[in-house]
Amino acid sequence: MMANEWFESVAVARTRAEKRLPRSVYGAIVAGAEAGVSMHDNLRAFEELGFRPLAAGQGAGCDMATTLMGQPSSMPVMISPTGVQAVHPDGEVAVARATAARGVPMGLSSFGSKPLEEVIAANPQTFFQMYWAGDRDSMTARMERARAAGAVGLILTLDWSFSHGRDWGSPSIPEKIDLKTALEHAPEVLARPRWLCSWLRTRALPDLGVPNFGPIGGPTPGFFEAYGAWMGTPPPSWDDIASLAAEWGGPLMIKGIGRSDEAVRALEAGATAISVSNHGGNNLDGSPAPIRVLSDIVEAVDGRLEVLMDGGIRRGSDVVKALALGAHGVLIGRAYLWGLAVNGQGGVENVLDVLRGGIEATMRGLGKTSIHDLTRSDIVIPPNFSPD
Ligand SMILES: Cc1cc2nc3c(=O)[nH]c(=O)nc-3n(C[C@H](O)[C@H](O)[C@H](O)COP(=O)(O)O)c2cc1C
Repeated sequence: MMANEWFESVAVARTRAEKRLPRSVYGAIVAGAEAGVSMHDNLRAFEELGFRPLAAGQGAGCDMATTLMGQPSSMPVMISPTGVQAVHPDGEVAVARATAARGVPMGLSSFGSKPLEEVIAANPQTFFQMYWAGDRDSMTARMERARAAGAVGLILTLDWSFSHGRDWGSPSIPEKIDLKTALEHAPEVLARPRWLCSWLRTRALPDLGVPNFGPIGGPTPGFFEAYGAWMGTPPPSWDDIASLAAEWGGPLMIKGIGRSDEAVRALEAGATAISVSNHGGNNLDGSPAPIRVLSDIVEAVDGRLEVLMDGGIRRGSDVVKALALGAHGVLIGRAYLWGLAVNGQGGVENVLDVLRGGIEATMRGLGKTSIHDLTRSDIVIPPNFSPD
């Protein structure tokens, strides 16, 4: 075994991932749209929130078990679906093993690199994520495949404006990796021998296919083929979403809500949960950090559906802040991708352990023994924190 791969914080995992991954793969994880205003705001907003610590009189222990969309979870955190290829040869199966080991559910992207059936075999608490992409029959086929595989719920992501011209430049992602593209990318790949070795051990290179986009048993569509189908699909109306919710008939999260009026529409359309989200700053740049609009949304839906949030979670204290503002739980994106890049399954477990330890430490500092007792009065909210 090589050097100790353990890391003490998500920031350290990020630094190591940057050293380990080829530049274009690392760049694909950083992502962010346009000027990166929303991507940065997602982090800045958490920094603006403070705590009201207690010096003595705390109880001992910390109860952080909960349920997320009906699934028992050892903590109020689940894996956000990400369609990012080539980070690690074990991909989402490593994420599934890690989350199963730590007792948390996961979302699997329809742009993920491993077949849904394999992921569910490793963690039965898997939600399948779809975009509104392709014709209605192809959406039904994807949904029925998820149902047959035993997905415990559906995540419908509705936040993509395709405006990803980046001021810092986008990574070059080949359509597929053949000899020609391998040679083109050789300089950046050869500079990352550990990443290369991890793939060579599997006797394969990342194929950039998206096996969950097509019907089971059919040919695996390429990433750009699927992406093109998605870009070419007109956005749904709320009636369209209601018809999909009725067809699915089970737990359904709408991911990408940023306004309280739309949270109520999601509820009326039949969603059982929402994630307040700006897609990690990958959608409309200039959208506020989800944590800024969370409380308004929680107030508007008034307990009638589960409100989660994602965007900018890097430490346990961020989770506690989100819960104090009324979130039922959070989803994490880049944090686990960096862990995966650094150490596969062990790296994702490491990230979940960092978050768990951070939640415990924060709860101790606040003098609370259960996440269910957190309230707004545990945190300090600066004036003008939320847009009006
Ligand atoms: C590289 C990358 C790929 C993503 N792919 C998807 C996807 O396929 N489906 C989806 O619903 N969200 C996708 N997201 C958004 C994440 O699920 C999540 O909303 C976001 O990463 C949360 O922000 P965080 O990274 O700050 O935790 C992606 C995000 C990143 C960074």
